[in-house]
Parts: sequence; C-alpha cells; structure tokens
Amino acid sequence: MNPNSFVSIADITEDEIRHLLERARYFEEHPNSKILDGKVVATLFFEPSTRTRLSFETAVNRLCGRIIGFSDPGSSSTSKGETLKDTIKMVSNYADLIVMRHYLEGAARYATEVTDIPIINAGDGANQHPSQTMLDLYSIYKTQGRLDNLVITLVGDLKYGRTVHSMLQAMKYFKPRFNFVASHELAMPQEYKDFCRAEGIPFTETTDFSADVINQSDIIYMTRVQRERFTDPVEYERVKDLYTLHNAMLAGSKPNLRILHPLPRVNEIDVDVDDNPKAYYFEQARNGLFARQAIITRALGL
Ligand code: CP
Repeated sequence: MNPNSFVSIADITEDEIRHLLERARYFEEHPNSKILDGKVVATLFFEPSTRTRLSFETAVNRLCGRIIGFSDPGSSSTSKGETLKDTIKMVSNYADLIVMRHYLEGAARYATEVTDIPIINAGDGANQHPSQTMLDLYSIYKTQGRLDNLVITLVGDLKYGRTVHSMLQAMKYFKPRFNFVASHELAMPQEYKDFCRAEGIPFTETTDFSADVINQSDIIYMTRVQRERFTDPVEYERVKDLYTLHNAMLAGSKPNLRILHPLPRVNEIDVDVDDNPKAYYFEQARNGLFARQAIITRALGL
C-alpha cells in the first residue's frame, strides 16, 4: 500500500488533519499554480457524482495537472466484465494517482492492495468519504473559528450516510458533543455509537428534530436519505420525507449556527433556508476544491 493513500479518515492523525486544513487555507488563497505540471490523475467513478468528481478535477486542472478517467463505468471495460483489480492495475500504468468512488464498502482499501500508486477514496458504499470530511472540517473551522467543543447535530440518514461516519471519526480529536436525529430505521449504527463511547464523546439520540436540539447546535449537518442503498423501495418511500429543515425552525438558533449538507439535497432543506445567512452548504461545496487540492498534493508527496 502506498503510504500516501487516503482511504479512511482514521488513517490520518490529528496533526495531519490540521496540516491539511492549513494547506486548504493556502490553496484558497492560491488556487492556481503549476505544482501538478507533468502529473496525471485518474478519476474512476463507479457511482454517480457531481461535486466530488468535478471538484477533484477542478483541483487538478487549476494546479496544471492532467486528468484521465471515467464518470460512467458503463463506458469502461468494467461493462465487459473486467475486475476492479485489473482496472486498478491497468490505470496504474498511466496515472500517478487514482481518485475512486465505488459502491462497495472496502473497495478503495482493496485498491491500495493491488497498486503502488496512491489511492484517494472518493466514497465507498456506506462506509467512508474522507475527502468530504476534510472539506466539512474546513467549513466548520472557517465558520466557527475553531474545531473544539462544538455541538454538532447530525440529521437524516445516519445509517447509510458515509459522510457522517467519517465526520464522527475525525471529530474525536476535538471534544465535540453530538446529537443524532434519525428514525429508528436510519439510526446511527451501533459500531459508531460504540466508537463514541470508547472515545469519550457524549451524544444524544432522538427521533425528534426539536427546537431544543436546533437551538443548542453550533452546526446542523443535514443528510439525504440514500435511496441507492435501500433494497426495498417501499421502505425508502416510508422514511424519505421524515426530516426537512424549514427557515422558521431556525428562529431561536444560535447566532453562530451554520447549516451544512454534503449535497445533493432532495428535500431535507427547504429552499426557504437558502437565503438565511446561516445556510452554508453551497460555500461548503466550494471549500471542497481547496480541501481536495490539499489532499491531492499530500498524496503526491508535494
Ligand atoms: N457530497 C458528495 O459526495 O456529492 P456528490 O455525490 O455530488 O459527489
């Protein structure tokens, strides 16, 4: 495994997280340079994406690297039955770095075992989305001025939402307090609650997205119900509309509150929230460009 791979947020230390945040700040001030001149980055997306793929590709383009890859596995030889192992080995002949998204949990970890070039996990099933976590941390730091001692409320699909799983693990260094708001069907998995207990992270669990929960929060992190992870469409229909944030619900919220969402949203945040100064999800997505420039340059040892 290439040691510069970034498969799970748990692979990096607190110092490395802070260093990546510093790098992201640098790239926000200097987004264009020739630092990737001569480098080829492959983006292999076996699952759909807008933000992650385009921000990774923009990150490379603005640093003068070159991009190869696919956004639709149907246009690759995967559709002819080529294995993931063979695909990774082939692409490693051409590129200096692979950014990959895959529907199988553990796919990115597996890829690191069949190649010597670094792998960046751009999301593997319901497991991890570490580059999203870096942009989330950067967004929290920018809006709150710190990462420590914040009340963070995670709402929606906490079972399949890989962004909240990565976020939980990253926040262990920063003394957070979490509220988990989800239906019983989409509750935070036991392993992540065990993780919080083992790390001494206090949390509450509720099905009620109440004013009390909202008004104590520094960050509200809304998530989409992940339709693509459901095997039973009836079950999806039953839970998909349970939590929607409306502007009126923010009337008693803290002045420093910011609303985050990894996006895409379906109906978890009503459009009437968009003009509220506490809505931060579009800026959050923009921060992904700088966080990913930081991640790419680290992975390439630059
Ligand atoms: N947040 C996120 O992963 O968005 P995309 O699925 O559009 O990449």
